[in-house]
Amino acid sequence: MSSVSRGHWNSRFGFILAAAGSAIGLGNIWRFPYTAGEYGGGAFVLLYLIFVFGIGLPVLLAELSVGRFTQKSPVTAFKDLKPGTKWSWLGGLGVLTGFGILSFYAVIAGVTVGYIYLSLTGKFSADVDAAAVFQGFTADGFQMIALSGLFLAMTALIVQKGVGGGIERAAKILMPTFFVFLLFLVGRALTLEGAGAGLEFMFAPDFSKLTAEGVVSALGQALFSLSLGMGAMITYGSYLSENENIPISAVSVAFFDTGIALVGGLLIFPTLFHAGVDPAAGPGLVFVVMASIFDSLPGGSIFGVVFYGLLSIAALTSTISLLEVITSYFIDEKGWARSKATWTVAFACFLLSIPSALSLGASTFFSEFYGGGFLSLMDNIWGNYSLPIGATLLCFFVAWSWGVPKALASIEAGGHRLPAGAVWGFLIRYVCPAAVLLVFGTTIWQQIFS
Ligand code: TRP
Repeated sequence: MSSVSRGHWNSRFGFILAAAGSAIGLGNIWRFPYTAGEYGGGAFVLLYLIFVFGIGLPVLLAELSVGRFTQKSPVTAFKDLKPGTKWSWLGGLGVLTGFGILSFYAVIAGVTVGYIYLSLTGKFSADVDAAAVFQGFTADGFQMIALSGLFLAMTALIVQKGVGGGIERAAKILMPTFFVFLLFLVGRALTLEGAGAGLEFMFAPDFSKLTAEGVVSALGQALFSLSLGMGAMITYGSYLSENENIPISAVSVAFFDTGIALVGGLLIFPTLFHAGVDPAAGPGLVFVVMASIFDSLPGGSIFGVVFYGLLSIAALTSTISLLEVITSYFIDEKGWARSKATWTVAFACFLLSIPSALSLGASTFFSEFYGGGFLSLMDNIWGNYSLPIGATLLCFFVAWSWGVPKALASIEAGGHRLPAGAVWGFLIRYVCPAAVLLVFGTTIWQQIFS
């Protein structure tokens, strides 16, 4: 059958690592700290955690159940479940969102690769201004475009090989390595002078600093970090076989991903206060802050190389999942060959990545686009708005169109019971959609009346 020719994961552990590989990436180490920093720290972190487990985990289960049941990528999956309805448009929105996210994500991933080289050449000694290094690096438009293109090409090379072969093998070795290395760096960060202030910033909630926009961003970050709201987990679930344990897989992925985000915070915030950097410094935050950790370690440039190397790979396992969703749409829906689909999409995405690549200083026009610059605009539209919309619609679909009993049966297929399955049904039917609508309603209200 077609499901066989689409490929499957080689083992359950392989799937968990691949899904965790999709989830863990720049979202944890780059996006989480700078967004949390922008919205005041502790209160944002607390809300993010509530959203991860109250909304993210239920939606993750829902996406996996749709994927495994249909064994199809999003658009085809919705068509199979509800033929002749408009639900397939939700899959289309996901494909578009994935495209938008990949276009700016590749730019930051490109910077990460560039920073391997900067560390290697010892650019981060004690008397170097890390903020100036970042500015100088991102002001070189040609270099930024070339690095994004390179990163997209690497992603396409792996996606072209299909699941199991490339994706699974890469994630298996690299994700655990990344985790262990991060823990080591956290050990250093926590012993830096001033680390206590960083912990306080991250964990002591000050709700007066939280704006409605901050609440939307915390929700967006929870979904972004778990790769939810655009069908990536539907696609990954479609490569799962009947005897796989979805409840355990989903819970493992959520814990693993959130753990890495918190570890990322434990790395960035103590170091940030040690170095006296502004938490609201924006997308350059990680790149500027990390320099002072490496600075404080003997042979620091080696640690920099390893850190940016592993972060690049974590980003790669994420871009793979983004490209995989768009590619499998063209394979399943348009009947394209995998290699044609992969390279066409990657090239189109490269074109869209150019304005983002030029928006961190190289071009004044794109850097000041809509105030915050083109990259931030893309990040905001796709990450903070499109993902929550996609996630809510998916909840509506699973709860009211496909139906909770069928979805639950798919989650529990193979005899793997979902503890508190009734709670899950309640969350998907009422709580998740209501929470998202409330969060959005408040922001829109504020924007109209403020
Ligand atoms: N979750 C990844 C990260 O945190 C990024 C990512 C990969 C993603 N696939 C996705 C985000 C799908 C949203 C949707 O870096």
